[in-house]
Parts: sequence; structure tokens; C-alpha cells
Amino acid sequence: MPRIPSGYHVDGFPILAHTLGSVIYHVCFHPLRKVPGPFWSSVSPIPLLLMSWSGTPHKQIFALHQKYGGVVRTSPDSVSCLHATAWKEVYGHRKPGQPENLKHPGFVAEVAEGIIGADTETHKHQRHLLASAFSAQGMQRQEPLIRHHVDLLFRRLEEHRMQGKSIDVAKWFNYFSFDIIGDLSFGESFGNLDRGEFHPWIATILEFFVAQHDMAHFRRAYPWLEAMIGPIVKILAAKIITKHNLFMRGQVEKRLALEPSRPDFIDGMKPDRTRGKEGLSFEAICHNASIFVVAGSETTALALSGATYLLCTHPKILAKLKEEIDSSFDSEDEITLRSAQRLKYLTAVLDETLRIYPAAVGSVPRLIQPHGEVVGGHFLPGGTSVDIWHWAMYHNPANFIEPEVFAPERWLGDPRFEGDKKVAFQPFSTGKRSCIGQNLAHSEIKQIMARLLWKYDVTLVDREWYEKPWHDQPVRASYVHPPLNVRLSLRPEKLKLSYLG
Ligand code: HEM
Repeated sequence: MPRIPSGYHVDGFPILAHTLGSVIYHVCFHPLRKVPGPFWSSVSPIPLLLMSWSGTPHKQIFALHQKYGGVVRTSPDSVSCLHATAWKEVYGHRKPGQPENLKHPGFVAEVAEGIIGADTETHKHQRHLLASAFSAQGMQRQEPLIRHHVDLLFRRLEEHRMQGKSIDVAKWFNYFSFDIIGDLSFGESFGNLDRGEFHPWIATILEFFVAQHDMAHFRRAYPWLEAMIGPIVKILAAKIITKHNLFMRGQVEKRLALEPSRPDFIDGMKPDRTRGKEGLSFEAICHNASIFVVAGSETTALALSGATYLLCTHPKILAKLKEEIDSSFDSEDEITLRSAQRLKYLTAVLDETLRIYPAAVGSVPRLIQPHGEVVGGHFLPGGTSVDIWHWAMYHNPANFIEPEVFAPERWLGDPRFEGDKKVAFQPFSTGKRSCIGQNLAHSEIKQIMARLLWKYDVTLVDREWYEKPWHDQPVRASYVHPPLNVRLSLRPEKLKLSYLG
């Protein structure tokens, strides 16, 4: 029987007969018929669409896997995977000549010219151009610029402390991470830390991100319907899109006019005729600059907030980490991007934070390449859309022993966690399209955590977060997180040190 694409109307077919035919085809003849999953998901994209918009998609997908196993059919032509080796099978490096499983185009349509949506060749070229800016040497060149923002963050924290005020660190970490990425991507900070509030463009880009996410799921479910209503949505949103583009293009133009070059992300992408470097088109630079802002800011801030919260509620782990930090540094000034990288226990704390509260919570689905692929023991035909949900993967007891327990020791060889399937943990993804900003994120987060805990005792202000987990949050593209109010006090032992010094 020929394949009846889900959701397409066949002229002249009575609706009932067509619906019935489609149901029979998807249940009995479709190549994914043997992949377990709920009946309604195998015949309609609606359950997956509603789940994606529900606010708890990470938990619902997890529940489906608990019931049906490591590979689950989530819509007529989509599956979700939670077995530990799924990353390698779907995202991993390919054998020579084997095409990669590209990202679902519906999820990257708005930034198709940027690194996230680029085809294999363009992606390779863009990664090559950006490699130097994201390398260890690149970060060393960026260190003074990054240091400026870190110092400014700590000045603001100190002001709050001196005034005896509590501070919503989740908000201030966000101000900080957007300022840094703004500076590295557009040549100018957003000025959030200076003003104590978000630059208006950030609110716009975050709203865009959520709207894009909602549209992407709709596009996957009903591509033909989206093609009809997409243009109408664009007309309705024209004013806001124009405002967004004007700001982004204006900033990039300003940065490109800056001479001499500065050690930022644009430097790698811009054409340089004197060195015979072609660089990227203006459009691609703009797309990438906004990708960096979305990909690199909130993720870093979420990891910082998550780590702060988890440490505040786990005093023994906090004490052990303070011991490591105290024995490594005699003064706050010694804590730099590079020196903080050496802290082993802090690295384990960060890994464990990203396992419990992965900053990239969801999935950017891949489309299986045309020849099909065996994943988790199932043959998936070309064009199957595959999801791997970070949150569900890391909370899966089949992958991690006592997954709800915050235990940095699991990353340090504790025999209690010998059965953990460590390959399941890929918070920065894996393969050629893994996070290019991973080193930057690690260094920023470790420097700030080390400095914060070297200097301050941090306590939660809102008692409720001792009773229920702060990190148990609704998800809409990313986490929708409540404030994380803390009180900072100078550590008495450090006070003594600075008095003696
Ligand atoms: C804790 C912080 C971060 C986490 C957890 C994280 C996570 C991720 C993940 C999971 C991906 C793959 C997404 C996919 O499959 O489509 C990714 C890609 C990417 N990230 Fe990050 N990220 C973080 C910080 C950063 C930072 C600081 C930057 C700097 C600008 C950045 C820039 C990017 C870019 C450009 C890509 C696309 C890479 C490519 O397609 O070649 N990320 N990140």
C-alpha cells in the first residue's frame, strides 16, 4: 500500500474513508509500526503537539518512556529515544560518505543562514571560521573583556550585601550572561548590569524564541497548514519583526565598522580583504549573532542559578566545595577563567547540576537521513523525526542510579554509582554540531561559582525552596523559573584574611 502522508487531504476521497485508511496504514503498514507507543500518537500528530505546548513536555515524555521503553513512537513519523547510546547513534560522527541526520528544518527556519540551521558544508565552513574565537587561546584574548563583566556582577552583588538587601541571583546571572554574550557577539554590552534591568531587545528576542519554538512544533505536526497560516502570522508580527531586525542589523553594522578588530565572535566571521579572507555574508553574521545571544546567555545563567540553589540545599557538598576553593586560592584575584578550570570537585558539581537541571532542557529533533538508520534496535526510515530530551535522559533510572539525588561524587568514581551510564550525559550535545560555546560556558560558570563561594556565605531567603525543589519548573522552550532570592554575607574567615593582608 502506498504511504499516505499524515494530515494531507486527498481530493475526491470521502473524509471518513481517508481517515480510516490513514489510521490503518499508520498502525498496520507504516515502517514505524513496530516502535511501541500510545495508539493515538501512532495515528495523529496532535498528542505530540499538545505535549510540546503543555508546559511539562519533559515530564510527559519521561512518563511515556517509563511505560513503553527506550524508543517510543510519539507521532506517526516521530520517535523519542532515551537509551544511553542514542546520542551516538543519532548525533554522532558519521562514517566517511555517510550523510548526517540534519536538524528538522521546521526548528531552524528562522535562522537557516546561521550555524544552527546550516547544511553540512556551510556548517563546516562556519565552524571553521568560528573555531579560533571559541578556542582556549580565543578565550584568553577575551579574558579582559569577560573579566570586566564578572567584576561588574560582583560589584552589584556587593552593593546588595552592603545595603542588607537580598538579591534575585537568577535575574542578575541573566543580566550578566546576556551582557557578556552581547559584548562578544555585537561588540557592545547590553548594559543590563549597569541599569539593573534588561535591555528591551532581550525581552523581544526571548519572546521570539518561545514563539519560534511553538511554531516549530506546529510546523512539524502540520507542515501544510503552517505554510498557509505562517505568512499571516508574519504579517501580524511584522512590526515586532522589523524592530528586532533593525536593532540586530544596526548593532552588527556598528561592530563591523569598528577598527582595529577586537577578540570577539564577529572577528572570525567578518570578511578581511587584506588577509584574503572571504568571511560570511552580512545576513549570516546577523543570524549567528542572534543565535549566540539565545544559545549562550540563558543557558549559562540557568546553570549558575541551578548550581547556587543545589549547593544552598546540600550543606555537606557546599562545605566540601568551599574546602577545595579555599585550598586553591589565597585571594579573590587569583580566581580567573583559567585557574577556576582546574577545580575537580567544582567540575563534578557543575556536571551534576547540568544532569539534574540541564540548561538545554529539550530537544532539537533530527531527521533521519534518506537511507534510514537503526536506532535503539529499531529501523527508522529516512525522514523520521527523532527527539532526545536532555531532562528525561538524565532523570531516567535506566541511565543513572538514584537519578533524583544530587551527588557530584558520581562523576568522581564513587562505587555507589558504578552502574551509571555516563555516555547518556551530553548536556552540550555531541558530534559535529555539539555546543561550540562549551568551554566558554564552563569557564564563566566555574569562575563565578568559585568567586561567589570564596567570598560569601549564601543562604536562600524564601523558605519554600527548602521544602520543594526550585528547579522543578514548567518548560516552554526553556525553563520558566521563579526568582531565586538569596542573602549574601562576607565569610568571617575571609574577613580575617583581608584584615591581616
Ligand atoms: C551551560 C551552558 C550551555 C549549554 C548547556 C549549551 C547546550 C548546547 C546544546 C545542547 C547544543 C546543541 C543544540 C542542538 O542539538 O541543536 C548547543 C549548541 C550551540 N551552542 Fe551551546 N550551550 C551552552 C552555552 C553556550 C555558550 C556560552 C555559547 C556561546 C555563544 C553557545 C553557543 C552554541 C552554538 C553556536 C551552538 C550551535 C553549534 C553548532 O550547530 O555547530 N552555547 N549548545
